[in-house]
Amino acid sequence: MAAHPVYPVLWNGDRVTLIDQTRIPNEFSVVEISRSDDMAQAIKTMIVRGAPAIGVAAAFGICLGAREIQTQDRDRFLQDLEQIADTLRATRPTAVNLFWAIDRMMKTARQTLGSVEHLRQVLVETAQAINQEDLATCQAIGDHGLAVLPQTPQKLRLLTHCNAGALATAGYGTALGVVRSAWRDGRLERLYADETRPRLQGAKLTAWECVQEGIPVTVITDSMAAHCMQRGMIDAVVVGADRIAANGDAANKIGTYSLALIAQAHQVPFYVAAPLSTIDFKIASGEEIPIEERDPSEIYQIGETIICTSGVEYYNPAFDVTPARLIAGIMTEFGVFAPAELKDALHQRSL
Ligand code: MRU
Repeated sequence: MAAHPVYPVLWNGDRVTLIDQTRIPNEFSVVEISRSDDMAQAIKTMIVRGAPAIGVAAAFGICLGAREIQTQDRDRFLQDLEQIADTLRATRPTAVNLFWAIDRMMKTARQTLGSVEHLRQVLVETAQAINQEDLATCQAIGDHGLAVLPQTPQKLRLLTHCNAGALATAGYGTALGVVRSAWRDGRLERLYADETRPRLQGAKLTAWECVQEGIPVTVITDSMAAHCMQRGMIDAVVVGADRIAANGDAANKIGTYSLALIAQAHQVPFYVAAPLSTIDFKIASGEEIPIEERDPSEIYQIGETIICTSGVEYYNPAFDVTPARLIAGIMTEFGVFAPAELKDALHQRSL
């Protein structure tokens, strides 16, 4: 059993403790990371995953890198740190929180005067602030999100995709934060969790998180969501996001777009829950969001078993983009906004 609550990334003075998300639910174990290169590898291999969580992990990766640099010369230190930042940036392309957190760390480094030792200390404080802020942000998203969910005669039956939970953030979660708030307030009947092919974050991680807290959860395969909506089993869909463009188009785990389309076909409201750090105001629309492609083995191999014949090609995009027109509202720490209002409502706060 895991400790409760779940914190996927923790700073331990000279190293970072990550919950190994590749092993849940069969095993709850942690990985100790003491080098920035190992942090980059942990992000790539998805020991730590989920947009806000990889931002936090990368911020602590910068702290580890700062300890590896031997020089006392401030300019040289900043140059070397920039290379470490580049290695961390090159891990996963889609979730903008990764770049947001690294940029904030590097800006802090450049703006902090004083000795290299002082800089190292300020970087740790900044990474810890990013972690703490994300926790408070997720709690606010959960409460704002719950307030706009439909008032139904029975308690709510929600559907989510992938894992946008405590494991994917500093704790609590974005989409799963809304589910947690609904459960806390006695408004949730049940969460339906898409298994989320190919990496199965829904079946493995979302279901595990719900079981830790006693939240009733039903796992379905991704292809069953339309059937559940047709049968009137779903009151609303709430998903997370990895990057939201200024017009409200939202990139999230592959399969989210098809879920939004079938939600529209069944008049089920479809919400995206995400912090401001997931919104990329530099990008006008979802077409510009870089989509990560991962190894084909994620499709043709389950555990040790090869499930497909040889002689075929594979295409394995890890994310897709849901157009703003399919999104009923974007749930943020500052309230819930129609995609078209997002830019005006939140741009000022991000400056
Ligand atoms: O590839 P992953 O597991 O990192 O993808 C995660 C998702 O798509 C989540 O839904 C998203 O990061 C939101 S997490 C609060």
